[in-house]
Amino acid sequence: MNDKSATPASKMLDRVLVLEMVRVTEAAAIAASKLVGRGDEKAADHAAVEAMRKAFDQLYMDGTVVIGEGERDEAPMLYIGEKVGGAPGRGPRIDIALDPLEGTTITAKAGPNALAVLAAAEEGCLLNAPDVYMDKLAVGPGYPEGIISLDRSVRENVEAVAAAKGVKPNEIIVCVLDRPRHAELIGELRAMGCGIQLIPDGDVAGVIAVTNPDTTVDLYMGSGGAPEGVLAAAALRCVGGQFNGRLLFRNDDERARARKWGIEDLNRIYKLEDLAKGDCIFAATGVTDGSLLQGVKRLKGGRMTTESVVMRASSGTVRWVRGEHRGEG
Ligand code: FBP
Repeated sequence: MNDKSATPASKMLDRVLVLEMVRVTEAAAIAASKLVGRGDEKAADHAAVEAMRKAFDQLYMDGTVVIGEGERDEAPMLYIGEKVGGAPGRGPRIDIALDPLEGTTITAKAGPNALAVLAAAEEGCLLNAPDVYMDKLAVGPGYPEGIISLDRSVRENVEAVAAAKGVKPNEIIVCVLDRPRHAELIGELRAMGCGIQLIPDGDVAGVIAVTNPDTTVDLYMGSGGAPEGVLAAAALRCVGGQFNGRLLFRNDDERARARKWGIEDLNRIYKLEDLAKGDCIFAATGVTDGSLLQGVKRLKGGRMTTESVVMRASSGTVRWVRGEHRGEG
């Protein structure tokens, strides 16, 4: 998966852009961090969006937002289809999936795991996911291909991972978004004696947690936003692991929205390469402390520290970037 030879040269991203992407997520995280714990989700999101928009324009690229803040009529900035980057018509043509503030409620309540996050890939390589729910199932690296499947039951997936890990099913830890809609899933996991890490929000970090042994999370299960599914898939493309996602539709309007984005098979199970193919970059900066990253810290004298991660699928390189920034004065 991280084999360079698997990615044709024409689909390789300019490596200069890799580290540059961190500037973009840093800018959004710093802007949102001013509003941590202030109870105002909208203001926090707005600050992150504005800062991310500005930071993109410093980059030499001809970017297009394919997953963003919504459709043009509902989002003033970073809407789907918006051009970003400082070299329109000249720079490399890059598709971008972004969430300037993944975890608006977390930020408003100063909870864990709020991130500024983006994924970038060559034009046409990221699924243009509609803003609907997605059923998600993820496991970390090191398991045989196909060990998990949304076509199998919760019990079958847990038992398969437990057997491959060499533990009993009741030793498996599953991360699940704490939502009433997950009552049945949680009940099934409880009946098997699994450990459940219930998260209040932020399933991008939740899915990525399966790749980090320090979190002790073996599996991610349950539904969350489809756009967040694409972002998490881009990260797993870089660090390994397996993912299944299936779009969930609550009404005909949502089905129509999916068709508008060219999705014909509404029951399709998407794997990593279906969501983010070719070379791709994933970058995130912590807004609040979490399992993936430390949040922005504001120090005496206005200085700030940030922690970010940036990864690239074709090389499999993962860079952890700690930044120190002068205050805005
Ligand atoms: P926001 O940043 O848009 O608030 O999303 C947070 C989040 O928890 C995502 O991580 C997750 O995919 C989605 O919301 C779940 O949606 P819902 O809150 O409707 O269950």
